Amino acid sequence: MAKTKTAKSKKSPAAGTKTKPLTQAASPSRIDIGIANADRKEIAEGLAHYLSDAFTLYLKTHNFHWNVTGPMFNSLHVMFEGQYTEQWTALDEVAERIRALGYNAPGSYAEFIRLTSIREEEGADGVPDWKGMVQQLVSGNEAVCRTARKVLKTADDAGDDPSVDLLTQRLQTHEKYAWMLRSLLE
Ligand SMILES: [Fe+2]
Repeated sequence: MAKTKTAKSKKSPAAGTKTKPLTQAASPSRIDIGIANADRKEIAEGLAHYLSDAFTLYLKTHNFHWNVTGPMFNSLHVMFEGQYTEQWTALDEVAERIRALGYNAPGSYAEFIRLTSIREEEGADGVPDWKGMVQQLVSGNEAVCRTARKVLKTADDAGDDPSVDLLTQRLQTHEKYAWMLRSLLE
């Protein structure tokens, strides 16, 4: 009877849809890990947003590793490499957490662009100077932290300790990156 509320379109989300499109359930009804279905869905959707932010920041950091110039070249080239390498590894854990919750992880540029809160870089045609790069990475890391905090709250309320643990670790790391990068501008 109460069907209308949960019934979702089976079709892919319409282009330009702004409201929570994302992850499709793999087999949600057969999963019982002690988290209510609605909570599991909300956490997976939040993690999909987080993953999209984290991927976009990863790509931006790698882009700047390639394209940085100026007197700070060597230290920033090396610093960015350390950060994007660590971020790349962490992406996998987040995607696999979404899978463990029973949902598919976003894994295409189109999805990441749709779900991220971070503005994508123009690439080779729009490379900022080193200060602009650092500024953008400060903003990007802060954006990742804001998204992580939001999802962490949802996961905590639902008693999803593995997601809380994962997001707590990511927050510590991205807050540290934001601090280190910010320090270069002071
Ligand atoms: Fe390299």
